[in-house]
Amino acid sequence: MLPLTPVLVAVVCILIVWIFKPADRSLRRKKREPGAPPWVDEDLNDSTDLHQGQEDADERPESEEDVEHIPFSHTRYPEKEMAKRSQEFYELLNKRRSVRFISNEQVPMEVINNVIKAAGTAPSGAHTEPWTFVLVKDPDVKHKIREIIEKEEEINYMKRMGHRWVTDLKKLRTNWVKEYLDTAPVLILIFKQVHGFTPSGRKKVHYYNEISVSIACGILLAALQNAGLVTVTTTPLNCGPHLRVLLGRPPHEKLLMLLPVGYPSKEATVPDLKRKALDQIMVTV
Ligand SMILES: Cc1cc2nc3c(=O)[nH]c(=O)nc-3n(C[C@H](O)[C@H](O)[C@H](O)COP(=O)(O)O)c2cc1C
Repeated sequence: MLPLTPVLVAVVCILIVWIFKPADRSLRRKKREPGAPPWVDEDLNDSTDLHQGQEDADERPESEEDVEHIPFSHTRYPEKEMAKRSQEFYELLNKRRSVRFISNEQVPMEVINNVIKAAGTAPSGAHTEPWTFVLVKDPDVKHKIREIIEKEEEINYMKRMGHRWVTDLKKLRTNWVKEYLDTAPVLILIFKQVHGFTPSGRKKVHYYNEISVSIACGILLAALQNAGLVTVTTTPLNCGPHLRVLLGRPPHEKLLMLLPVGYPSKEATVPDLKRKALDQIMVTV
């Protein structure tokens, strides 16, 4: 029998690490998900069409060109002006409502371009800007989107959602029929890019991509409100992969949100919801 030389020991150790590392990684990935309703995470992961080994972006950094640092330009307002501006901004946003009855009247595309530009000013992890905003104006594509969503939503309401969820939604009087997907002149589908690509085609890590895109969506909602348009925040469950393929988006993009955008229809109603007061949402330490 060969004596176990230090070299042989080192080779055996490397082999053991090499064999067990991928298994450990997939274990960790699985561990992150317990407790989450499977139908929610399924959509956001949408890993059915991404090979497991490709899911993690290449961790070897590729040197990027250094960025020049320039003086910061700041507008400082007198305190009175600050109070007025912040109060007016709050009042504007306090009028925002989720509107599920949208007229088929066309909206100016210049306005849509501006609100998307506003959303694109969001901060993002390591300035990766991991978002894609897909505008759908074509009536046939909108209708296909409606068919996909209504089919899944009917199953969601009838089978996948628990009793409590359906009860919680009762006050909103929502169901699986989504007429606004046909009537709204523009649908904005917001995709998060779970990774990007370096100039040489290697995978680039998109840190905190979901948080970054969610912030962009918040800015988009505020910009729409500011422009005088309405929408409803929707997260079509289990439709992500199907809609992604319909819209020709690549597998590293996952649907995060769908916003039907337009003017409210004349007969639009909203539930009379109350918002929490400041002392219920803020604590000062
Ligand atoms: C993450 C998220 C997902 C939502 N998904 C849906 C949805 O799928 N369908 C829907 O009709 N409303 C959806 N809403 C809208 C909420 O029902 C709505 O924001 C809430 O009832 C408060 O009403 P308001 O937006 O008028 O203040 C969603 C909101 C958020 C923030």
